[in-house]
Amino acid sequence: MERTERTTSGGEMNGTMAGSGSGSDELIFFVNGKKIVEKNADPEMTLLTYLRRKLGLTGTKLGCAEGGCGACTVMLSRFQTHTQQLLHYAVNACLAPLCSLHLVAVTTVEGIGSVARKLHPVQERIAKAHGSQCGFCTPGIVMSMYALLRNNPTPKMADMEEAFQGNLCRCTGYRPILEGYKTFTVDGGCCGGRGRENGCCMTNGSGVEKTSEEDVDEATALFSTTDFAPFDPTQEVIFPPELMSLSKGQRSRSLCFRGDRATWLQPDTLEEILRLKWKHPDARVVVGNTEVGIEVKFKNMVYPVILAPSFIPELNSVTHTEDGVVFGAACTLSHMGAVLRQAVETLPPHQTEVFLAVLEQLRWFAGQQIRNVAAVGGNIMTASPISDLNPVFMAAGCKLTLMDKDGSRVVQMDDSFFTGYRRTVLRPQEILVSIEIPYSQKTQFVSAFKQSPRREDDISIVTAAMSVTFTPGSNVVEDLRLSYGGMAATTVLAKRTANRLRGRCWGEELLQEACSTLAEEMTLDPSVPGGMVTYRRTLTLSLFYKFYLTVLQKLRQQGVNVEEVKSDCVSATELYHPQTPSSVQIYQAVPKGRSQDDVLGRPMMHLSAMKQATGEAVYCDDVPLYENELYLSLITSSKAHARIISVDTSAAERLPGVVCFVFADDILGSNATGPVVYDESVLADGQVTCVGHIIGAVVADTQLHAQRAAKAVKIQYEELQPVVTIQEAIAAQSFYQPIRTIQKGDPEAGFKQADHVLEGEMHIGGQEHFYLETNATLAVPRGEDGEMELFVSTQSASKTQSLVAKALGVPANRVVVRVKRMGGGFGGKESRTTVLSTVVAVAANKLKRPVRCMLDRDEDMLITGGRHPFYGKYKVGFLNSGKVMALDVSYYSNAGNSMDLSLSVMERALFHMENSYNVANVRGQGFLCRTNLPSNTAFRGFGGPQGMMISESWITDVAQSLGKAAEEVRRLNLYMEGDSTPYNQILDQFTLDRCWDECLSRSEYQQRRAAIDLYNRQNRWTKRGLAIVPTKFGISFTAVFLNQAGALVHIYTDGSVLLTHGGTEMGQGLHTKMVQIASRVLGIPYSKIHISETSTNTVPNTSPTAASASSDLNGAAVQNACEILMKRLEPYKNKNPKGSWEDWVKSAYFDRVSLSANGFYKTPDLGYDFDSNSGRVFNYFSYGVACSEVEIDCLTGAHKNLSTTIVMDVGHSLNPAIDIGQVEGAFMQGLGLFTLEELHYSPRGVLLTRGPGSYKIPAFGDIPTTLTVSLLRDAPNDKAIFASKAVGEPPLFLASSVFFAIKDAISAARAESGIKGPFRLDSPASAERIRNACTDRFTKLCPPAEPGSFTPWSVQV
Ligand SMILES: Cc1cc2nc3c(=O)[nH]c(=O)nc-3n(C[C@H](O)[C@H](O)[C@H](O)COP(=O)(O)OP(=O)(O)OC[C@H]3O[C@@H](n4cnc5c(N)ncnc54)[C@H](O)[C@@H]3O)c2cc1C
Ligand code: FES
Ligand code: FES
Repeated sequence: MERTERTTSGGEMNGTMAGSGSGSDELIFFVNGKKIVEKNADPEMTLLTYLRRKLGLTGTKLGCAEGGCGACTVMLSRFQTHTQQLLHYAVNACLAPLCSLHLVAVTTVEGIGSVARKLHPVQERIAKAHGSQCGFCTPGIVMSMYALLRNNPTPKMADMEEAFQGNLCRCTGYRPILEGYKTFTVDGGCCGGRGRENGCCMTNGSGVEKTSEEDVDEATALFSTTDFAPFDPTQEVIFPPELMSLSKGQRSRSLCFRGDRATWLQPDTLEEILRLKWKHPDARVVVGNTEVGIEVKFKNMVYPVILAPSFIPELNSVTHTEDGVVFGAACTLSHMGAVLRQAVETLPPHQTEVFLAVLEQLRWFAGQQIRNVAAVGGNIMTASPISDLNPVFMAAGCKLTLMDKDGSRVVQMDDSFFTGYRRTVLRPQEILVSIEIPYSQKTQFVSAFKQSPRREDDISIVTAAMSVTFTPGSNVVEDLRLSYGGMAATTVLAKRTANRLRGRCWGEELLQEACSTLAEEMTLDPSVPGGMVTYRRTLTLSLFYKFYLTVLQKLRQQGVNVEEVKSDCVSATELYHPQTPSSVQIYQAVPKGRSQDDVLGRPMMHLSAMKQATGEAVYCDDVPLYENELYLSLITSSKAHARIISVDTSAAERLPGVVCFVFADDILGSNATGPVVYDESVLADGQVTCVGHIIGAVVADTQLHAQRAAKAVKIQYEELQPVVTIQEAIAAQSFYQPIRTIQKGDPEAGFKQADHVLEGEMHIGGQEHFYLETNATLAVPRGEDGEMELFVSTQSASKTQSLVAKALGVPANRVVVRVKRMGGGFGGKESRTTVLSTVVAVAANKLKRPVRCMLDRDEDMLITGGRHPFYGKYKVGFLNSGKVMALDVSYYSNAGNSMDLSLSVMERALFHMENSYNVANVRGQGFLCRTNLPSNTAFRGFGGPQGMMISESWITDVAQSLGKAAEEVRRLNLYMEGDSTPYNQILDQFTLDRCWDECLSRSEYQQRRAAIDLYNRQNRWTKRGLAIVPTKFGISFTAVFLNQAGALVHIYTDGSVLLTHGGTEMGQGLHTKMVQIASRVLGIPYSKIHISETSTNTVPNTSPTAASASSDLNGAAVQNACEILMKRLEPYKNKNPKGSWEDWVKSAYFDRVSLSANGFYKTPDLGYDFDSNSGRVFNYFSYGVACSEVEIDCLTGAHKNLSTTIVMDVGHSLNPAIDIGQVEGAFMQGLGLFTLEELHYSPRGVLLTRGPGSYKIPAFGDIPTTLTVSLLRDAPNDKAIFASKAVGEPPLFLASSVFFAIKDAISAARAESGIKGPFRLDSPASAERIRNACTDRFTKLCPPAEPGSFTPWSVQV
């Protein structure tokens, strides 16, 4: 029952409700121990908005507003009068309605510790274990851990992994977070300060984690648990005594809170809620708000009356009856899970088949923060076709009690319960009171299945539950119910199939009949929303097959005479249980005897980590509000290509709070913009060229008012034909110029020399940056001479400055851009940040008032572009030995509606087209497709990964077509010292062969290969795969002029040093490394050195913090500045050799010596020319090799990352903890790119995946079960600062080893069906692609529809 129109009045409330009267009740709650009495609680306000805007508690972050990232996690505590117990639970503040908090204690990250006071151990350990990079996710993760410990001070690793199901981190790769927190667990290998037989490492320093770097040159510890404060659960913040007495003394009473558009009614009896529902049939019953909150935020729904049933005993009780367990509809999923788990432990197993199926679904249902608040009734009544619980309830025949004020009725959950998309038989005046989940019968077996793109916290593609009951003692089917979600507009029962199978014997014949009938019954329109039609249909069969095997096993266990499940099929029945990950990190220890004050080369903690863990670190949107500040919301195009006919703001103007609109004619300077060429407009002028194109903006008093007004602006378009996909662009020859070519040798001659020539193609999907902190800008006009100060979350302070100045029509010297830190960037904040910052600056200039905007996640994903999708076509010639003789490759990137950085991205793809292989005759061409998508942009790797991915595809094809081991063919073609690249750069100081050999031996490649081959022979439906992949990544900006950097160092008279340089901090630890460098050169402890921020008025004309080169460039500039200062101090040191640093500084000062110096650096000898294919492109190369093993489930397409070994050459690491953090973070981001993350666009160019709910980045559960990262030792690099190497981007491509391991496993599956040889597998290797590639008897029953005969839901762009 979806409504899109707006309803206005809150309606007359029932005057008899206690406390309702004509006004609002007082909302009483506590935040971090402080009592808050809110007299005007707005039913539409979330706890997060209240914390951040009203209380100024900005430690709790906004990452998505849809419960999908966990950045907003806080802990709620309430005293339960019926159990007389305190309940602590983690929730998402972004979805928690403020009004639901009456008599609740809220604990935020600020409430448990601070740098100034004392850190809580959960804050300290994540910081010291290097689990916080950009830190934007950190408060949420801290609070998830804290809530776990409040409930269970001695958790197991599994408890911890469960607690983190609802938290995402884009930087760390998760490993260090788990590593730090395993010290709290009982089975994580550390007693966490509780003491063990042989003492405790935290007190006696004998723990295994202690670094042994004094003794050996190879170190394996990145932190020492001896540095951790012990955890003492008795010291926790107490539940506020006043709240305790308020809660205990409370006699339940109804509450009423009135807002502008909605009224919250919290009745205390069943009669009262039924009467209210009678009076307000449109009222929503809200428990967790996890569905309604999304509808209000993202679907513009307004619900004038909200009924909250949390005080009503009947809706919150649990009753055990003769037939099963009855749950009140408002029981939370966590509570339901706990009750069912206990029932499973105490009841005979045959009674609990249904309960186990529910529990299996709950394991993968959202994250814990959602399960802690979402109600079972909410899941049923949302009636979502992909609900995970409804199929189980349906297959089990659960009974629902419905009630209105005149009485109750009991209905069975069968196929008549759901009457259409999100509709049920419930009458508007009725509510759901309870659900009875029945015990299973002796001869009944039940299973539940969920298949989603990501295992953790994801919505289903197909979800199913199956129940079969046999005639006792036989295998004759008495009753069968197969229910599916994701196969129609409602949860459905496969009735036809079930009817056919009733009375039949459970055996091969039944299976065949079931599959052919299911294939006919479970059909989908080829254009169905959600797409994946063939996959979804195949899943219905595959899941049934799993059920079939499971039931066979169970029947045999009961002594029924059925065929035995063949041993090679057993693994198909096993439920997935994550294994606790383990890891090893290896790096070169600093030489013996080096002073402890010299921190260079040591695993020093990120300098902001502590502040990030306590929520004290300030991000752009955490800057306190200016008194007269306004908020901006963007008006964007809903069409991919159109002329704007009219823009009607009249309805928006009438909305509260609106101050003004900003359109193209408000731009005083130039509307033309763009990072390299000015081919974009700040605000659209007459035409739009992508969905999300910025047309204008609304400025209002608050964010909510601005956003509502922006949505009320009506735009009329005349639509033009869009070009959306690469294939459409090729057909229309829609390319940006120039088309780049690199050629070396003679490819045609090479093909002639080859024994074989093979052609192939591959598409690599794009990727959303998904920095946890979305784009944000605060522009503050200074009132004089056109001056403006901007706080921006950007990697390019100088580019922001120049483009803002251009739009304002002022010289650059009037604009100051300041960047404190970013909550992640990954290239996404290199150029596209200016699309927002220029508009905000124009608005602030127009109004002469501060204006702020932080994009919502869906806006950010829609507007700011991402990694370029690539399509590659190749022809490769090779000898029988596998030696590649010639290559001809064409790359096509989807550049989007403007040039942005696409040319440089393509150039880097071409510079990496041979990856690490020596090909004598090679030609590469790069085409930039001009399409009507938002402009794609820089993303970690910058085209390199796409370039190399195609090369790994052809090298795999070569091996497969020759029937040789891919590892052998790779090794054969690998570069050697002195070889020259296609762009004629000689490879010196070559270490790739060393990385390769170390990786082979550390991963035990050959033994692993043998074990995998054995495994694959023994298992039909699960297969393992292995791949070892090298990478060679060129370091330097390919635009030569960008290879420069500046630094400014001030020494103050007290000896403290203020360091500024041109790079920005986005979590990568750049500032920490710069301080380490300055500390080494100045010869002072790092604690004397401070970096405050990056700003355009300290270091001008900076290059973006990008291309992995920032440590090299800025580090050398810092070194230069510090050396200048040291030279100036030298006479005073010589004069007073025994003096202190402070003495020398003072002496120099009194001697009138400047204690401030600029440093500068430019990379020497660069300059490549495409026409002559000569000149140096790169300063040097970073090398690495990874070996990964995976296991795929051939029936579902799901895969497990079993093991990864990485060997990475980072030269002499400046900071091994930070570098390993970069390696692991990049690897996990690459893992997302190549196996998980899929952006879906409609054929009309509309992005369909706009948040964590539909776009899946890797989660905690995606880390390889064993992960080894080794930094190559004894590999100094003479081309960069202190012999180090760049590390930010190079390791990302190593995740392709997982992709090619998956491909290896698929090959094994295909071989079972007799299919051999090369095959195309596009990236990402999603569950859908894996399943579809594993051709078998089930896929053959579900052939795809003829392409071109239908309009697909989404297209490959
Ligand atoms: C991040 C995230 C992840 C999710 N993951 C999953 C998942 O993995 N699987 C899945 O199935 N779902 C998932 N969901 C959907 C959602 O959380 C569940 O459907 C949840 O159970 C809804 O419960 P709630 O109490 O929050 O509902 P609310 O939002 O409070 O209410 C939902 C609807 O149910 C109605 N309603 C609630 N109680 C009653 C009642 N007693 N009588 C009549 N109507 C009632 C309300 O009026 C409203 O229309 C997810 C949601 C989010 C935000
Ligand atoms: S901001 Fe609340 S979960 Fe993402
Ligand atoms: S540190 Fe987790 S998102 Fe950046």
